[in-house]
Amino acid sequence: MPGLVIAGLQWGDEGKGKIIDYLAAGAQAVVRYQGGNNAGHTVAVGNEEFKFHLLPSGILYPNVTCVIGNGVVIDPGVLLGEIESLRKRGFDVTALRISDRAHVIMPYHPILDKLEENLRTDDKIGTTCRGIGPAYIDKYARYDAIRICDLLDAEYFRAKLPRVLEVKNRLLSVFYGAPTLELEPMLQQYLGYAEALRPLVTDTSVLVNQALRQGQRVLFEGAQGSLLDIDHGTFPFVSSSSPGAGGVTAGTGVGPTKINAVLGVIKAYTTRVGAGPFPTELPPDEVGSLRDGQDGRGREYGTTTGRPRRCGWFDAVIARHSARINGITAVAVTKLDVLDPFQTIKVCTGYRYRGELMQELPASLRVLAECEPVYREFLGWRRDTTKAKKIEDLPCEARVYLDWIAETVDAPLSIASVGWRREETLTAGDPWGVK
Ligand code: IMP
Ligand code: MG
Repeated sequence: MPGLVIAGLQWGDEGKGKIIDYLAAGAQAVVRYQGGNNAGHTVAVGNEEFKFHLLPSGILYPNVTCVIGNGVVIDPGVLLGEIESLRKRGFDVTALRISDRAHVIMPYHPILDKLEENLRTDDKIGTTCRGIGPAYIDKYARYDAIRICDLLDAEYFRAKLPRVLEVKNRLLSVFYGAPTLELEPMLQQYLGYAEALRPLVTDTSVLVNQALRQGQRVLFEGAQGSLLDIDHGTFPFVSSSSPGAGGVTAGTGVGPTKINAVLGVIKAYTTRVGAGPFPTELPPDEVGSLRDGQDGRGREYGTTTGRPRRCGWFDAVIARHSARINGITAVAVTKLDVLDPFQTIKVCTGYRYRGELMQELPASLRVLAECEPVYREFLGWRRDTTKAKKIEDLPCEARVYLDWIAETVDAPLSIASVGWRREETLTAGDPWGVK
């Protein structure tokens, strides 16, 4: 029963998509367990690039079953659009399966996402405005929620939507003074989606458990990162789900006893898109060295929104925090090559708060805002790492840096990524944790 979780250890965009795609070659299934199309996973094959928001990153392999679990919130229009665009590029996506228990993003969700964000003044979250938060609100509020199984039951959906829409329209018009939405076109549009999705919908908990029982290798694909986790992240500047390994069981219907390894994915530096604290963030006049980097290889612009990402040095406090909450068994370090030109590389080893040294991430953002990062410096390697074929080919200084990261997160190095292409990936150890 080899179940391997791929979890981001920072604020998302650690390169999980690339790592999943790389490992999917030796897997039979890839399962998404939370988030929605706020995610943006980039996968490269040859010189071609693919960007996925909802489709699991194993979708390019014909023999891999890709699953969207019950913990994901699904915008059916976006999902069908992604399926169609892959079909046009010659990929067969008939092996995709969608949970009958996943919740549906309705047209009012992205609208409410924007309106709620506009209400905030200096506490804007920087949401992707894809309706993720409002869809999860409805899920937990229960009454207004629509699940995939509800959508497929036309009679039930026809009866339910008018009641839900009446409430949403009242919210839109009375509270926000915004235009209301029409029932009939929405009903027709979503009933159309239902028919297009129907062949893909199943009880995915049964499917994934069956695969695990048969000894198949199953990858659980996290979206976003542990610092965006609703419980363990920099609340309230977080997403609305559990991107950490803890989200897997609830988001897929697979028990914790069926998961045997967690690969933490971490960038060799740190990025964040959207608002919220970021202790090691570089000031605007220095950020380009990471965001664009040498020859533009940094490419730190949001896959979903195109926003420039905030960039800064590696932060060991958050790395240790995330390694702990995920219980990682191995680590993958990505974008090492972006550090190639640096003479010295700074890393934050702790925070100084009112004269005291802090080793753990504080819960209170008021405390975090006062924390000053304590830095140590590593000697840069100032050589091109992108041509390395194995870990041993890396300059000695780069290996020292990787070893320090592995020591920091208290897990063996499994993968180092030195470029965006599949072949620019170096293996140091087997992340599956099974023979
Ligand atoms: P939401 O999930 O769209 O509401 O966004 C909440 C916060 O999470 C914002 O700061 C977003 O920028 C951030 N976020 C959401 N999804 C991702 C992602 O896939 N990568 C990086 N940041 C994300
Ligand atoms: Mg991303």
